[in-house]
Amino acid sequence: MKFGFIGAGVVAQTIARHVMPYGHEVLLSNSRGPDTLADVVGKLGRGAFAGTPQQAAEQDVVVLSVEWPRVPEALASVPDWSGRTLIDATNRIDPDHPSDLGDVSGPTSSEIVADQAVGAKVVKAFNSIPMQWIEDASPEKPRTVLFISGDDASAKSALSEVLEQAGFAAVDLGTLAIGGRQQQVGGPLAGLNLTLHDPFVL
Ligand SMILES: NC(=O)c1ccc[n+]([C@@H]2O[C@H](COP(=O)([O-])OP(=O)(O)OC[C@H]3O[C@@H](n4cnc5c(N)ncnc54)[C@H](OP(=O)(O)O)[C@@H]3O)[C@@H](O)[C@H]2O)c1
Repeated sequence: MKFGFIGAGVVAQTIARHVMPYGHEVLLSNSRGPDTLADVVGKLGRGAFAGTPQQAAEQDVVVLSVEWPRVPEALASVPDWSGRTLIDATNRIDPDHPSDLGDVSGPTSSEIVADQAVGAKVVKAFNSIPMQWIEDASPEKPRTVLFISGDDASAKSALSEVLEQAGFAAVDLGTLAIGGRQQQVGGPLAGLNLTLHDPFVL
């Protein structure tokens, strides 16, 4: 699968390191242009490319991995979202006011994202744990639970397949409205460090 990333920071690079060993290609983009990402893709190695947000959106799936205040401009940099699979890794956190979550009783953060990416198949994933918990991208890493939510079953199942291949346990929580609320910041499943172990052999 070809992954595009809008946002080339901690989240994009961590996910890239987990999927690349299984033959998946990654194209990272930021707001400053592909030239500024030469070192980043160089470190990720073969199978990593730098591009524009539009090029990222043209990959099989595109991961939104920018800080929340930058979401509107990042989504607006792709004129047509119809039919694209958009993995929303963002959290509704303003880095300047991290403890102020605002009113979380209305639409979920990924529904807000979906409203700005009309026609995209939005899947919420990767948002609910800090990336340092999954720094280890080796084949021996613990099997960490990653929650996913979304309204399109085939987009969720394609992502689940890659996550399982990359050594995670993907848990589908349902729709963006219901599952999204569970896994978004402020929800009961955000910030849970769950790893699966082989059953004890007695
Ligand atoms: N870090 C974590 O552990 C973690 C875990 C789960 C979820 N999250 C969420 O994931 C999102 C990204 O977090 P992060 O830690 O990866 O942030 P980060 O390291 O600050 O990276 C953000 C990236 O977005 C780029 N960017 C900003 N505006 C852009 C635009 N308009 N178009 C394209 N790229 C743009 C930035 O590059 P330029 O400024 O150079 O354009 C940078 O590469 C946030 O919403 C965060 O809440 C983070």
